[in-house]
Amino acid sequence: MPARLIDGKTIAEQIHAETAAEIARLNSQHHLTPGLAVVLVGDDPASAAYVASKDKMCARLGLHSVRVNLPAKTTQGELLANITDLNFDRAIHGILVQSPLPAHIDENVIFAEIDPTKDVDGFHPHNVGKLALGDETGLVPCTPAGIHQLLLRSGVAIEGAHVVVLGRSRIVGRPVSLILSAKKPNANATVTICHSRSKDLAELCRSADILIAAIGQPRFVTADMVRQSAIVIDVGINRVDGNLIGDVDFEPVSQKASLITPVPGGVGPMTIAMLMHNTVRAAKVRHGL
Ligand SMILES: NC(=O)c1ccc[n+]([C@@H]2O[C@H](COP(=O)([O-])OP(=O)(O)OC[C@H]3O[C@@H](n4cnc5c(N)ncnc54)[C@H](OP(=O)(O)O)[C@@H]3O)[C@@H](O)[C@H]2O)c1
Repeated sequence: MPARLIDGKTIAEQIHAETAAEIARLNSQHHLTPGLAVVLVGDDPASAAYVASKDKMCARLGLHSVRVNLPAKTTQGELLANITDLNFDRAIHGILVQSPLPAHIDENVIFAEIDPTKDVDGFHPHNVGKLALGDETGLVPCTPAGIHQLLLRSGVAIEGAHVVVLGRSRIVGRPVSLILSAKKPNANATVTICHSRSKDLAELCRSADILIAAIGQPRFVTADMVRQSAIVIDVGINRVDGNLIGDVDFEPVSQKASLITPVPGGVGPMTIAMLMHNTVRAAKVRHGL
């Protein structure tokens, strides 16, 4: 029987509705409008499109949004100075620096400069450390938090499941493995994290109850790598001949899986939903609400 689709667009819309309701409540009860600043360095068209969609979503949900556009030749020092200003800006509760940054700027230095309480991307070492420690006061990276929500809101039993994560990046693979293996209800999974040096990858994938592919290799996960009735989450976004293709060979794998995310329309919409959610959360923490 073909897999049931996990509809990321619908689930993201549910989260947006919850976020909009919370913003309206903060407005009316506390005269508080959460604010997000997005910093864009250079004129990469894909980054500009992402940033524009974030601006649009802020307007739709009632968030205050500020865009800081800087030229590609901006020095690391100039970018740091902009971040310092935003750290002190009382109307701003979340700061996102759009990556990739130009090669002459060290992303790690930039992410570490953002006030950790405004770090809605969850990349600051304080927030990475809190996630690793299971301390829930930190901000959690958006795509992995979105994957967790997709699983929970689709009724997937995570506790005790064997999750195999393909990819160990700071953005997706590493944090999603920490979220799902945390000693907590709705987590408590047994997680295997794989990467380009892993041996017997196909065999490891076949041992997964939940397989998460985040490697950036189009159609890498084939049907023979998937256990019958497994749950498959495809994080990959690969542009092939003008089309968006995931890391999973969707058609054959969906004949074997019980649940699967499509690309596009699976994990993608969740990232922005969790960004908006994180901004509201940061504003509430800042104001002790
Ligand atoms: N839906 C969304 O909102 C969203 C958000 C973020 C990313 N993405 C997409 O998700 C994918 C991954 O993104 P990322 O930022 O995590 O990528 P990344 O930083 O390039 O990391 C890729 C990871 O995959 C591993 N890998 C690459 N080729 C492999 C192979 N053949 N076998 C096993 N492991 C392999 C790498 O291993 P090593 O560590 O050994 O190099 C690395 O850990 C991309 O397609 C990206 O566009 C989607």
